[in-house]
Amino acid sequence: MRGQVTGHGYNAAHSIGTTAAPFIFCPIRSSLPELMQEILVLYYSHRGSVGALAEQIALGIHQVPGAAARVRTVPRVSTVCEAVEDDIPASGPPYVEAADLRECVGLALGSPTRFGNMAAPMKYFLDGLAGDWVNGTLAGKPACVFTSTASQHGGQETTLMSMMLPLLHHGMLLMGIPYTEPALNATRSGGTPYGASHVSGADGSPLLTADEIALAQAQGRRLAETALRLAVRP
Ligand SMILES: Cc1cc2nc3c(=O)[nH]c(=O)nc-3n(C[C@H](O)[C@H](O)[C@H](O)COP(=O)(O)O)c2cc1C
Repeated sequence: MRGQVTGHGYNAAHSIGTTAAPFIFCPIRSSLPELMQEILVLYYSHRGSVGALAEQIALGIHQVPGAAARVRTVPRVSTVCEAVEDDIPASGPPYVEAADLRECVGLALGSPTRFGNMAAPMKYFLDGLAGDWVNGTLAGKPACVFTSTASQHGGQETTLMSMMLPLLHHGMLLMGIPYTEPALNATRSGGTPYGASHVSGADGSPLLTADEIALAQAQGRRLAETALRLAVRP
């Protein structure tokens, strides 16, 4: 997929993988054990916070036997209509392709909050899925959403809810995080019943708190467990 971008590509902060094993970025399908089911972790991140959450959600998915995370991103959008991104990003996970949506049995969708809503690159990607909507590519598959804001009350829940809307149109089964997760009551930073989240502060720090990590991993595990139960095995 060639996306629209500005000319400067991705910076180093976009690359995730500070703590997780690199295999979570792009597992080679043929190397996965037989009957392993993959969950798509698809996110956009400019400064690394949503990327850090994606990493923890992927770790949670990998904690479920039989499940693996396939981590993908979307290109930036450009103010120059003709500008296109290289096929392969300079760093971080590969760009999402049609096969990723088709082959994965669940979806975790992440975006930074931009004025209380998802970021344009993710919206641009979603707006290009009319064919998948017609074909029901995502229908019946479980999904969850995650985000990051600079400020505590900067619109995490509106962003998470807005990200759910297109997924509902696709017939996806939306999942949040239940209050049976102790960190949901304890957190003084990110983490909501609508989905995992992070408060990055004015300096945009991608360093997650222990509660944010616990809730992101719990969300990944929960999504993977549900996806395995629902998945139709060949
Ligand atoms: C154009 C723009 C709009 C933003 N809007 C909000 C907002 O509404 N509320 C908020 O708390 N933070 C807002 N932010 C800050 C980002 O959501 C925050 O830095 C987030 O952690 C970035 O995630 P990332 O590191 O994955 O890119 C905005 C940032 C930009 C650039």
